[in-house]
Amino acid sequence: PQVNFTHDNSRVTASLPTGESIEVLLYGATVISWKNRFGIERLWLSDAAKLDGSKAVRGGIPLVFPVFGTAPDHAATSKLPQHGFARNSRWEFLGKSSSESTGPSDTSVKLDFGLSSATLDEQAKSLWPYTFSIIYSVTLTPENLSTSIVVTNDGEQPIEFQVLLHTYLRIDDISKIQVTGLEESEYIDKVDAASTKTQSGAITITGETDRVYTPAKGPSHPVVVSEDGEAVYSVVRDNLKDVVVWNPWQQKAESMGDFEPKDGYKKMICIEAGSVRGWTTLDPSDAFEGAQTISD
Ligand code: BG6
Repeated sequence: PQVNFTHDNSRVTASLPTGESIEVLLYGATVISWKNRFGIERLWLSDAAKLDGSKAVRGGIPLVFPVFGTAPDHAATSKLPQHGFARNSRWEFLGKSSSESTGPSDTSVKLDFGLSSATLDEQAKSLWPYTFSIIYSVTLTPENLSTSIVVTNDGEQPIEFQVLLHTYLRIDDISKIQVTGLEESEYIDKVDAASTKTQSGAITITGETDRVYTPAKGPSHPVVVSEDGEAVYSVVRDNLKDVVVWNPWQQKAESMGDFEPKDGYKKMICIEAGSVRGWTTLDPSDAFEGAQTISD
């Protein structure tokens, strides 16, 4: 048994001999599906998500770069649209590699995607005129899904950026969810005038939630989503210092034209690994690498 693989003008799919599969759009290099070996979808994707390149995808794993939200006071990114241009750009598929260490039961596959100042469209380039290259790798194993980003500054001036892996996790019932691993962590509460607070105990979601956590524990300490007391996802980070927890709840979901069904907020939670508080500075010819691994 081999990795099954398809690639056309708009998307790349791969599945493992053990049954797990992924689907990635070239638009945004957005992972739009991650299924386990039983064919059960692990990512939430809106029924009204635009997959034709007309709008950033509502669901899956959009990639936020080089700005989180908007940054009117940060000259270099102030003109960019919300969450930057990576999720709205067409990426190149650079190739796949698969490996197995002990046999077909642990075969894995890695898909690589590229975006650079050479391939970026003129409009984005005019808003963000830096010389850069990014390789985004999506790796599927029987145990987990990893996404990793390497940003290289190929120009002659420093680059300041933010990056976020905006993962929409699929859940059964938001009222039964607990998020642990962020206890005692400081966070910015974007639904309470951006005030700074400290998390006490597990997170439960009972209304619109939009928080930027700076985890008290290191990146390898997992952020765990449990449902009815049972762990359903575990997210570990590599060189990504922040975690955003987002659920739009009823009213915000109503206001988003591409969010369907309207009660879909009960079926998703965004756990987003990134570096979004302050700016990461990349000197000429330096590279930044950050990654997340999600186990289910
Ligand atoms: C989250 C932000 O990461 O993304 C929220 O913290 C935002 O403030 C959400 O609403 C969705 O953003 P967008 O641009 O995809 O609607």
